[in-house]
Amino acid sequence: MSDLTLPPRFAVFGQPITHSLSPRIHRHFAQGLGIALDYQAIEATPELFPATLARFASQGGIGANVTLPLKEQAATLCLELSPAARRSGAVNTLVRRDDGWFGDNTDGSGLVRDLEAHLGLALAQRQVLLLGAGGAARGVVSALFEAGIAELVVANRSIERARALAHDLAACGPIQVCDWQELDQAGAFDLVLNATSAARQGVVLALPASLLGADACAYDLSYGDSARPFLEWATQHGAGRASDGLGMLVEQAAQAFLIWHGLRPDSAATLAWLRGQ
Ligand code: ATR
Repeated sequence: MSDLTLPPRFAVFGQPITHSLSPRIHRHFAQGLGIALDYQAIEATPELFPATLARFASQGGIGANVTLPLKEQAATLCLELSPAARRSGAVNTLVRRDDGWFGDNTDGSGLVRDLEAHLGLALAQRQVLLLGAGGAARGVVSALFEAGIAELVVANRSIERARALAHDLAACGPIQVCDWQELDQAGAFDLVLNATSAARQGVVLALPASLLGADACAYDLSYGDSARPFLEWATQHGAGRASDGLGMLVEQAAQAFLIWHGLRPDSAATLAWLRGQ
């Protein structure tokens, strides 16, 4: 039972979680709108996540974000999923209902909103290259097609995983698979998205400059040090725009905030505040 004298409880679950920006983002949104909320970061291993989430609910938790490595597992803990969560097989936003958790995924729409609203890239009819075929890549495919892209090419180090993504998400739109070794023959793109975790393991991707079309946008779904090598490559090779995924992080949070509170926060103000720190 929730205590109505206390602010509503929210949290982000993941492992590791100490460096998560989500508590600061949600508190900043709430401050801007004059809302009281309690938003904590809660560490949970995959083994302990179901029990930790159940305890959070029993203590009055009514909404949660989920990050690595728990997004796919979160989908299995929900009674009902949104179409976006069902298509990607992953949940980043949980909403407590009387009978259990409702799971949604705002990662893809967060990316699209950052590209269109903050970076000024209209996605309609664009040629898009997606590097990577893991959970992060899967999470953004359907939203890209909904935004009207013309073509999506997926390249992944292990081609089997790219083929699996193309097969599983075929209903979203036409997905071509490109061999990682043949990227130099893949042509030029309007938008190159890096959804690999290579930089997190200290690996700098060796990518051909020919991938960047005229005035191309290069976008890394991660931020901070993890985004730097890809953005440096893009800038050195003449990309029109190069951006990390901080705006996507803020926008996926803004969509979660809207789902929970019914209010759209001033995400541009929060993004500017974070960039200024
Ligand atoms: P996430 O949830 O962040 O997507 P993931 O599911 O482990 O994490 O996926 C990581 C992605 O980064 C995969 O596409 C992976 O390629 P493989 O499927 O071949 O493993 C990609 N990746 C990781 N290290 C890489 C590297 N050194 N070079 C190229 N791709 C790499």
